[in-house]
Amino acid sequence: MDIKQYLEQKRQDVDRFLDSVMPPESAPPANLHKAMRYSLFAGGKRVRPILAIAAYEAVGGASPFILPLASSLELIHTYSLIHDDLPAMDNDDYRRGKLTNHKVFGEAMAILAGDALLTMAFDLVSRPDLVNGLDPRSQVNVIQELAAGSGNVGMVGGQVADIEAEGKDIDLATLEGVHRWKTGKLIRASVRIGGIAGSATAEQVNRLTAYAEDIGLAFQIADDVLNVTGTREELGKDANTDASRGKKTYPTFFGVDGARKLADERVASAIAHLTDFGPKAEPLRELARYITARKN
Ligand code: IPE
Ligand code: IPE
Ligand code: MG
Ligand code: MG
Repeated sequence: MDIKQYLEQKRQDVDRFLDSVMPPESAPPANLHKAMRYSLFAGGKRVRPILAIAAYEAVGGASPFILPLASSLELIHTYSLIHDDLPAMDNDDYRRGKLTNHKVFGEAMAILAGDALLTMAFDLVSRPDLVNGLDPRSQVNVIQELAAGSGNVGMVGGQVADIEAEGKDIDLATLEGVHRWKTGKLIRASVRIGGIAGSATAEQVNRLTAYAEDIGLAFQIADDVLNVTGTREELGKDANTDASRGKKTYPTFFGVDGARKLADERVASAIAHLTDFGPKAEPLRELARYITARKN
């Protein structure tokens, strides 16, 4: 299969859906909707929604209700990036090839745009008109995955550990924990949501979860590597920020080549968890490879 074509097709599906549910810039409160749209349509890769769709298809799912579920993950991810870039957090000026949200709209509006994106995610997954055809029990499970993956025992918990580790001589186990939480937990939720929405068996959900935990760690190791090797033009965000902030990363421990090798090992392990899934899981396998091969 052609993963580039698959990614492009699914990215368009997600973008079209998000555009259809996100109020226009003119809708009041107009400044808020402008700020939300600015970051949401700045050109993200849409990896998390695409993972949810691919997991859904891997277990035989084929209903349009996967789009609101998958797109909710992008709303949460985009909110996390807006807040992550704030002066009180990473204080970054560029994201997705554009000035960061707070640089354009001010800190107060950036915080509120993030809050509203987070809240809107839960609106999307609970709306009966959009999630039509999913049994209510699975829908509640999906909502719970979304909450757990993004909150205090998920992404936000990981961001706390990440900030607390700054400038400290942390050990590898601590770093791995940061990565598994701050990036891994939302990726894990994405894949599990796809599986649950597609009525996967408990065994299938377990395998998908093991796959997701491997690619989640690989994804953040690749992000660490790109922070060292990439340019602002390639990444759409400033490079070398980890070193300048005194952050220990996988390349600090293993060098760039060593870190790449570890990420590749996680990808191989992820793919091995999908052995029983057959050809329908080919996009998930290709997505795992893409996560370490990507240039941004
Ligand atoms: C960047 O995520 C932040 C991390 C969690 C590593 P992505 O690399 O998915 O960023 P976008 O969505 O494509 O901008
Ligand atoms: C972002 O982590 C993780 C989030 C949950 C937002 P980083 O701070 O390492 O990601 P970038 O490099 O800014 O994209
Ligand atoms: Mg950060
Ligand atoms: Mg950051």
